[in-house]
Amino acid sequence: MIKFPLSWHRRLRLALAHRISLPFHRLFNRFPDSEAGHARAEVTRITCHHTPLAGRRAVQISDLHLDRYHARHDSVLRTIAGLKPDWIFVTGDLLNVSDGLPHLFQFLAGLRSLAPVFLTLGNHDHYSGVPVDQFTALADRHKLHLLVNQTMFVPTEGGELGIVGLDDPSLHRADLTCIPPRTKGRFTVLLAHAPNVLDHLDHRHAVDLILCGHSHGGQWRPPLIPPSWLPYGCRGRVHGHYRQNRHRLYVNRGLGWSLLPLRWSCPPEILAIDWSADAPSDHENAG
Ligand SMILES: [Fe+2]
Repeated sequence: MIKFPLSWHRRLRLALAHRISLPFHRLFNRFPDSEAGHARAEVTRITCHHTPLAGRRAVQISDLHLDRYHARHDSVLRTIAGLKPDWIFVTGDLLNVSDGLPHLFQFLAGLRSLAPVFLTLGNHDHYSGVPVDQFTALADRHKLHLLVNQTMFVPTEGGELGIVGLDDPSLHRADLTCIPPRTKGRFTVLLAHAPNVLDHLDHRHAVDLILCGHSHGGQWRPPLIPPSWLPYGCRGRVHGHYRQNRHRLYVNRGLGWSLLPLRWSCPPEILAIDWSADAPSDHENAG
């Protein structure tokens, strides 16, 4: 696990925050027309250099908070289908309340029809009251790969893709010992819900790309004002690329909402990751 446990007062604050948010989620789930700023997800593209994976593509989405299936979820599926991914990564906060499970798995089954799907859990998944074993059983039934401090390897011509799925770092449930050692020809993607995982990785951890969510990109972004809402576990990381200890992190704005069904100047995001045999560009090297 992350080296130190979550303090009791932090645990209490997080649990209270979730308790306060639940009535809002239950209320607004009944009124899908109350959503604003969610209509169209933007596609962001990044490139990774690794010859054995050249020409392959993955898609990452995050923070679904999917308690009710809406028309916009069909639109997300159509957009992802158009990207023709080889793999799909979902980095936690799948839902808020347990009665959202049928809606969530309707969407996840749609994803699975497009490509193999790899999932991790976020803080809201744990607070939902759905046991991890139930998530695992449902994932197995739908042929989805739920990774809770686990790693899978996908062989490719001349190499392999390693996919590490950590449990939520913001709840200090991430166990970094499941990260495999560096091996020639392997590109390792680390999936984790919260960006604070970056602060727990050092140069010994063989990770080539870290994908997170949790921030919602701030969710409400009035012009010229720094984000006023960032949950514990972001450590100031709002959106986009971050680098530390030679690790490359991308923070996805996610698809859903917390507390209020409003995204302001902060559209939902679908990340497309393309692998190339070319040398990394200056942009990729930028911090
Ligand atoms: Fe979230």
